[in-house]
Amino acid sequence: MGNIHAGILGTGHSYPEGILTNADLEKMVDTSDEWITSRTGIKQRRKASPGEYTSLFAVRAARQAIERARLDPSDIDLLLCATVSPDQILPSTGCIIQAELGAHKAAAMDIVAACSGFLYGLSLADAMIRAGQSRYALVIGAEILTQYVDYSDRQTCVLFGDGAGASVLGPVEGDRGILSTKIRSDGRYEEQLFSPGGGTRRPPSAETLAAGDHFFKMKGNELFKVAVRSMADVSREVLEDAGLKPEDVDVFIPHQANQRITDAVASKLNVDSDKVYSNIAMHGNTSSASIPIALDECVESGKVSEGKVVLLASFGGGVTWGGVLMKW
Ligand code: ACO
Repeated sequence: MGNIHAGILGTGHSYPEGILTNADLEKMVDTSDEWITSRTGIKQRRKASPGEYTSLFAVRAARQAIERARLDPSDIDLLLCATVSPDQILPSTGCIIQAELGAHKAAAMDIVAACSGFLYGLSLADAMIRAGQSRYALVIGAEILTQYVDYSDRQTCVLFGDGAGASVLGPVEGDRGILSTKIRSDGRYEEQLFSPGGGTRRPPSAETLAAGDHFFKMKGNELFKVAVRSMADVSREVLEDAGLKPEDVDVFIPHQANQRITDAVASKLNVDSDKVYSNIAMHGNTSSASIPIALDECVESGKVSEGKVVLLASFGGGVTWGGVLMKW
């Protein structure tokens, strides 16, 4: 049992066709393409149309990942869907996806860890496979964040976009696969990024709706500092755990929140900028979907290929953060 390693066998991603550009936002709030580009690196983000919902994109991403893993949905025995923008409160979006895929054998549930949700999922799937409890796990990050964005709040509405990414994990041989994972949280920072309305503390009502309590509220400045520190620290931890150094990393895929956060983390870690992947210009921040979308883009382009050492790091509302190191 102790010798089983888990690795990623297939990846996929999907996003809405709709695009919201900085020019579009200039017409909605007091902002400019210049401000958004220089402060965040974002040029556009995907935006779901009315009638499009989270599991729609999750299922498309998942099908692609399962196909590329050369498996059938019925092979999946664990399905974890990371999301903070579920189809509905009950049942879980994971169960909705499970039914849509026909993953009859799978236990299914959601993970609510904001932008770290996908790495939380990888970490749990890795542990379940190594323990022999699961054989093939599907981990998805899927969000329709544009539903939770207040398009009169210029500090948040420029940041977020929609999409989904998925990875299938299973047992792998040799020295490849997941080398180390660390996941962490600190709920004392709750109010740095939160959505206060709609739960049992502030049940949905005409008042909460009118107050916009269901929208994301953010203290961007403070989050920025926590993000840089936590992603750099957890990256060092997983590297140390695996006996590797920053220079051993071939591809670094951080959560895509802000280009300046990515640059600051890479520089703190001493990872060369040509090893750092960024798609923030095209997608904005898609929370739990950002890393699996970026990972699939790297696999598709050949940037991530056999033998490459890949470092993933994230932080998000909660606050939560995590790191995963693997050999492809
Ligand atoms: N357009 C123009 N001006 C703006 C905008 C905008 N869209 N947003 C803010 N400003 C203004 C502010 O009002 C402020 O003006 P003032 O100086 O007159 O008061 C000025 O720009 C500077 O504002 P700051 O907040 O200091 O700008 P900063 O450089 O910190 O950038 C940002 C703000 C982009 C939000 C940054 O802090 C950030 O990226 N933080 C991290 C946020 C993040 O990643 N959140 C997601 C977490 S992940 C998850 O869990 C979903």
